[in-house]
Amino acid sequence: MLITVVGQGYVGLPGAVAIASAGHIVYAAESDPVRLASLTRCHSYIAEVDSEDLRRLSEAGRYRPVHDASRAPSCDVYLIATPTTLTPHRTPDLRHIDTALADIARSARPGALIVLESTIYPGALRHHVAPLFEKLSRLRAGTDVHFAYSPERLDPGRDTVLEEVPKLVSGLDACSGRMARDFYRTIFRHVVEVSGAEVAEFAKLLENTFRYVNIAYVNELSKTAKAMNIPFREVVAAAASKPFGFMPFHHGPGVGGHCLPSNLHYLNYVLATAGAPSELLAAAERINGSMPDYTVERLRLVLSRTRTPLRGARVLVLGLAFKAGVADDRDSPAYAISDSLVHAGADVRVADAWVARQPATDSFRLVELTAEECAAADAILLVTDHRDVDYDLVLNSGTVILDCRGHLDAQEVEQL
Ligand SMILES: NC(=O)c1ccc[n+]([C@@H]2O[C@H](COP(=O)([O-])OP(=O)(O)OC[C@H]3O[C@@H](n4cnc5c(N)ncnc54)[C@H](O)[C@@H]3O)[C@@H](O)[C@H]2O)c1
Repeated sequence: MLITVVGQGYVGLPGAVAIASAGHIVYAAESDPVRLASLTRCHSYIAEVDSEDLRRLSEAGRYRPVHDASRAPSCDVYLIATPTTLTPHRTPDLRHIDTALADIARSARPGALIVLESTIYPGALRHHVAPLFEKLSRLRAGTDVHFAYSPERLDPGRDTVLEEVPKLVSGLDACSGRMARDFYRTIFRHVVEVSGAEVAEFAKLLENTFRYVNIAYVNELSKTAKAMNIPFREVVAAAASKPFGFMPFHHGPGVGGHCLPSNLHYLNYVLATAGAPSELLAAAERINGSMPDYTVERLRLVLSRTRTPLRGARVLVLGLAFKAGVADDRDSPAYAISDSLVHAGADVRVADAWVARQPATDSFRLVELTAEECAAADAILLVTDHRDVDYDLVLNSGTVILDCRGHLDAQEVEQL
C-alpha cells in the first residue's frame, strides 16, 4: 500500500519506519527543513530510530521523505502525527492538524483512509477534523473518504518495540473502523478496536492523565514524608511489594514533555465544555507545578547546612531533557528550576549530553560534564537521570548533591 505519514517527529518517524518495514511504501512528510534534510541524508534524530534502518528502507524505495503531504502521490492511507499544542489560553491548538488536512486534501482521492494519531480531545475527529477536511477537499467523510483515530502509545526512552504495543483503533463509522483495523494489523501484533472514535480519543487522555494525577499524588505525599523524615521512595517500594491493586509512581522535580502537561488541558477543555471541569486535574496541576520551586527550596536548605547561601552559589544542574533516555527538552522542569535558581541569585550551568544545542535562554549555559565543572560548583542538582552519565565523577567531586530522582545511592547524597 502507499502510505503518507505527516510529521516525522517522536511519533511519526518511528511509525513511518515500522510501516515501511512491514512492506508498505511510505511518503514521510516533514515540513521542518532541518529535519527534512536530515531524513533525506538518512540521518535519524530520534534515539529509537536507527539511521541504518532509514538507509536500508530508503534504498529499497520504501521510505521517501517529502516536504508535505501535497507533494506525495495519492495514497491509500494518510496518517497524521503532527503536534497538538495549547493556545495562550491553554485550550487545544489544532493548527498543525489543520495544515496537514489542507495538504492531504490536495493529494487524496476517493477511497482514502485518513487516520489521526496525534493526541486530541474526545469529539475532535467527528466535529473538527472530518468537517474541515470535507470543506477543504469536497470529499464526503464516510462515503468518499474514511476517518479513524488511533492514538500513539509509544514511550520514548523506554525499551519497548513499537509493533508490540497494542494499537487502539476506531473509525468514525463501522466501515472506516474496519479499514483502520485491517491496515494496522499489517504492522502491529495486537490491534484493539473500540466502538467509536470518541472512546479511543478519551482513552488516550485517560491513560496520560492517570499518570499525571498519580505523579501529583506521590509528589504531594513526598513533601510531607520529607518533613516527617520518612524515606518516601522506600515507602513506594514497600507498597509496590503488594502484587495487585497498586502501581508505583515516583516523585520528582516536576512533570514535563510535550504530552502529559498538555493532555491535562485537552481533557479539562472537553470536561469544562460539558460543564464539569475536573477539580482533581486542577489540584494535580497545582501540585506538579509546585515541584520546581520546592526543588529549589530543598536545595537552599541543603546548601545552608554548609553555610552557603543560594544567592551567589554556582549550581550545576544534571539533565535538561524532560526524562531519562531522550533528547526532548520540551517543557522540561529543568527550565523552571533554572529560572527559579537564577531568580534566587544563583549562577546556573546545565550538563546534558543528550541535548545538542544551547537553548534560547539566558538562565544558564549548557556545559560538558567534567571534573572541573563538578568541583567548581557549590551544588549539583540531579534533575534527569540519564543512564549514560559518569556518576562516579559526580560522586567523587566532593560537591553537595541533591538528587531529585533517587538515582544516587550514597549516604552523602541528599534526596528530594
Ligand atoms: N512524543 C511522544 O512521546 C508522544 C507519545 C504519544 C503521542 N504523542 C502525540 O503525537 C503527536 C506528535 O507528537 P511528537 O512528539 O511526534 O511531535 P514532534 O514535534 O516531535 O513531531 C511533529 C513533527 O511534525 C512536523 N509537522 C508539523 N506540521 C506538519 C505538516 N503540515 N507537514 C509535515 N510535517 C509537519 C513538525 O515539523 C515536527 O517535526 C502529538 O499530538 C503528541 O501529543 C506524542
